[in-house]
Amino acid sequence: MKILFSKTAHDAGISAARVFADVLKKKPNAVVGLATGSSPIGMYDELTEMTKRGEISFRDVHSVNLDEYVGLTPEHDQSYNYFMHKNLFDRVDIKAENTNLPSGIAKDPTAECKRYDALIASMGGIDIQVLGIGNNGHIGFNEPADAFTKGTTLVNLTDSTIDANSRFFASRDLVPTRAISMGVGQIMKAKRILLIALGKGKAEILERALFGDVTPRVPASILQFAEDVTVCADEDALSVILEKHPEAVTR
Ligand code: F6R
Repeated sequence: MKILFSKTAHDAGISAARVFADVLKKKPNAVVGLATGSSPIGMYDELTEMTKRGEISFRDVHSVNLDEYVGLTPEHDQSYNYFMHKNLFDRVDIKAENTNLPSGIAKDPTAECKRYDALIASMGGIDIQVLGIGNNGHIGFNEPADAFTKGTTLVNLTDSTIDANSRFFASRDLVPTRAISMGVGQIMKAKRILLIALGKGKAEILERALFGDVTPRVPASILQFAEDVTVCADEDALSVILEKHPEAVTR
């Protein structure tokens, strides 16, 4: 595992974009696993700039997103589909038909989970999976639980996740309570994983995930067993790791 230090969130976005861009340069038709939330926004901004400068292209790239809220249409401004269009898809040369997210409005969410698993398998797996980490250690919407999830699952969001997400909705009752998420098993199959963590609020959980026990109570802790993980984080998110395991951080 590589833990790359950045002084600021802005620099961490640039550092993450370099890792991501390297994959596209080596494999222009890569399958990329994408995340939403605040953590990858700086990386998406930098990838947009790199595309404009002609350094990379998404022309032959296929994407699969980690998750989507159940009950939100793709046009809803808090849906992850909308987020991806605004922050990446509409700004780079990716083909709309090559982008994939679980459908939040599928009549049968369980069947939608199966469809999504089959889709990822048919694409030949994921070359690079981008992740953020939740305050409770979740990755995707895989919440702390007694066991790690395997494939795509319909999940009930925890109160802490609903609280964290309520900042984006007019009121807490408007926050969806369920989501469809790629499973931990599926995330672990990605050939490369890029975890982005920003801000003081992530410092404790990032240290527990990367250095504590591997347990489904901290879903991100499973990344300790992944083959190829790069963590791009800012100084605030790294503060506890810098205190306890300074040797593990690459500056
Ligand atoms: C987003 C996702 C979530 C977020 C996590 C961190 O697709 O699956 O796991 O990565 O909740 O969110 P932010 O980046 O907003 O702190």
